[in-house]
Amino acid sequence: MQWLTEYREDIPRVERFNIHSRVTHWGHTVTFLICLLTGLVLFLNGCDPLATIFGGYNGAGLVHRISAVGMTLFIVYFVLFNMRALAAWIMDLFRFGVNDIIFVCLFPLEFLGFKVKMPPQTKFNGGEKGNSIITPTMVLLLVLSGYIMWFPAIFPAWLVALCYPIHDLAMIFGTFMVCMHGYLGSFHPGSGESFWGMWKGTVREDWAEHHHKVWYEENYAEKEEEKTE
Ligand code: HEM
Ligand code: HEM
Repeated sequence: MQWLTEYREDIPRVERFNIHSRVTHWGHTVTFLICLLTGLVLFLNGCDPLATIFGGYNGAGLVHRISAVGMTLFIVYFVLFNMRALAAWIMDLFRFGVNDIIFVCLFPLEFLGFKVKMPPQTKFNGGEKGNSIITPTMVLLLVLSGYIMWFPAIFPAWLVALCYPIHDLAMIFGTFMVCMHGYLGSFHPGSGESFWGMWKGTVREDWAEHHHKVWYEENYAEKEEEKTE
């Protein structure tokens, strides 16, 4: 049984994510998951087998903080070294329109195996645009509330107390999003090719044209035409 879509080098490929985006994305994935596991040790408070992995409750707290700093550094790295991609990403989100709404409405049918005709999508489809807003917002809430909880002496007591439920809710909602997103970005048969875009940087040209027609035509179709002229 094959879990991931096969990586095909014999079929023309186009670039989807540059090296900075990929380093940030996988750096975030690793630090997010470590923060989640160590955070759960603190959250569940009584989950001894999980705590043992990190050398007890204090160990989990320490690993949580180290991973949290790593996560923060990846955000700083992304903003400093990948301004253009960040700006292009935000601009793409502002293109949210009717085609994205139709995509989101039809996606559950496609997911269940029905044949549907999706309208042309930009670099990020309607679902990915939603993920691009919700998940980074949850991460930002986790980061802000996390540092306030870490240094309670600097902040008013009511704010520190408020940060605990905020941190917990952002963890629950963020984890729910990451579970769906992780599956769609890897094992899901229809969109599995996107995994290679985030892993190796490129996706199959025919897949790009089919799944992200607007983005493909704006970035690659014209160049193809120039080459053939
Ligand atoms: C920059 C990012 C983050 C910082 C600075 C941070 C900081 C903290 C701190 C200081 C605590 C309290 C630890 C203690 O009581 O000893 C905590 C708890 C916790 N963190 Fe984070 N954290 C961050 C990211 C995350 C992420 C990404 C997750 C999960 C996806 C997460 C989940 C949790 C959970 C579940 C708790 C337990 C809260 C409770 O006891 O109610 N944290 N975090
Ligand atoms: C669990 C394993 C994960 C896998 C397999 C995965 C896979 C992917 C893939 C393949 C893409 C590119 C989709 C495209 O072509 O547009 C992507 C994009 C993205 N990922 Fe992940 N990811 C994972 C975890 C995470 C985590 C932990 C976060 C944040 C905390 C995250 C945040 C994002 C965001 C914001 C995007 C851009 C929006 C989108 O395409 O949905 N990912 N991911």
